[in-house]
Amino acid sequence: MGVSFDKIDGATWLKFDIQPATNPTPEKERAARLVDPGFGRVFTDHMAVVRYDQAKGWHGARVESRANFPLDPALAVLHYAQEIFEGLKAYKRDDSGVNLFRPDANARRFRSSAERMAMAPLPEPVFIEAVEQLVRIDRAWIPGGEGSLYLRPFMIASEVFLGVKPSAEYIFAVIASPVGSYFKGGPAPVSIWVSENYTRAAIGGTGAVKCGGNYAASLRAQAEAIDHGCDQVVFLDAVERRYIEELGGMNVFFVFDDGSLSTPPLGTILPGITRDSIIALAKDSGTRVREEAYTIEQWRTDAASGRLKEAFACGTAAVISPIGKVCSASGDFLISGGAAGPVAMGMRKKLVDIQYGRAADPHNWIKKVL
Ligand code: PLP
Ligand code: COI
Repeated sequence: MGVSFDKIDGATWLKFDIQPATNPTPEKERAARLVDPGFGRVFTDHMAVVRYDQAKGWHGARVESRANFPLDPALAVLHYAQEIFEGLKAYKRDDSGVNLFRPDANARRFRSSAERMAMAPLPEPVFIEAVEQLVRIDRAWIPGGEGSLYLRPFMIASEVFLGVKPSAEYIFAVIASPVGSYFKGGPAPVSIWVSENYTRAAIGGTGAVKCGGNYAASLRAQAEAIDHGCDQVVFLDAVERRYIEELGGMNVFFVFDDGSLSTPPLGTILPGITRDSIIALAKDSGTRVREEAYTIEQWRTDAASGRLKEAFACGTAAVISPIGKVCSASGDFLISGGAAGPVAMGMRKKLVDIQYGRAADPHNWIKKVL
């Protein structure tokens, strides 16, 4: 069955109706919530919402008070998980202005996620405008220092129908959450558990897009990681169960004794925007980067011989987190003696300095919102 959604690109001119919250969080309470927000538990006063149906196309763009959605029990997303999302951050500059990092790349990936999940593709300018409007109205919620405002655009299938088919109606929304570090220990090295029982993605599946189902399927493996005292799970390929793919919510890089980097190739992994940025920054400074398959056996051997110097995880939420320890049913091993390595920490600083506007932006990644 072909999937076609009419009235898509006619919506690029969509204008948001801005309805400020009538009862926003008092300043004192907001300041208290911003002191140590952690990750994903504190939310701002507003949300952006745009709706799609086949008669009107994308319509009803609004920024309004953050509120519950009325959910019919037969809503398609509740049954067949037709849902996608994105994650990006707004950063407060020293001059109190606000930067977004590569929102165009998130808008593009959101569109390709929609295509894979047979959902109505949202025009990229509407995605970006929704994010910018929300950041503007909730700017007081952006933490200072090394904190940031995590933006979560998402789309759900909202047709009330139990047949298995692409929904004819969708709700796109953006919510925002002031955040500190994703991991409790900040940029301290994390430990990861190699999932030998569960895989995340197969060729032809949905591993390369950001749909909620990928994360639902990762939770059992993540729980196994926690049971073994680890912070995150790392998945192997679904065919040979040998090749490193990615973590539950992050990509991974390896640093070798000749100064080169390697990272698993695209295909069944999420094409991370942080991953892509690290490849570009490494190449800028003359570092060789290979996008190549790497097995868990080789990782263990190279860590023991000293050929592998460092490994690190990367993503919007995690930024760059050194990996200190790898655990699996067949034994544990340390990387960099379990300490944070200089390449990971240097790359983290380089990236974060661009994001906060403290360093030059040679690739035009920054979009100033304020
Ligand atoms: N891989 C997975 C499974 C993720 O959830 C994420 C986070 O978004 C990433 C990789 C990193 O992607 P990005 O750098 O675009 O945040
Ligand atoms: C992100 O980094 O934006 C993600 O979606 C990952 C998730 C683990 C929070």
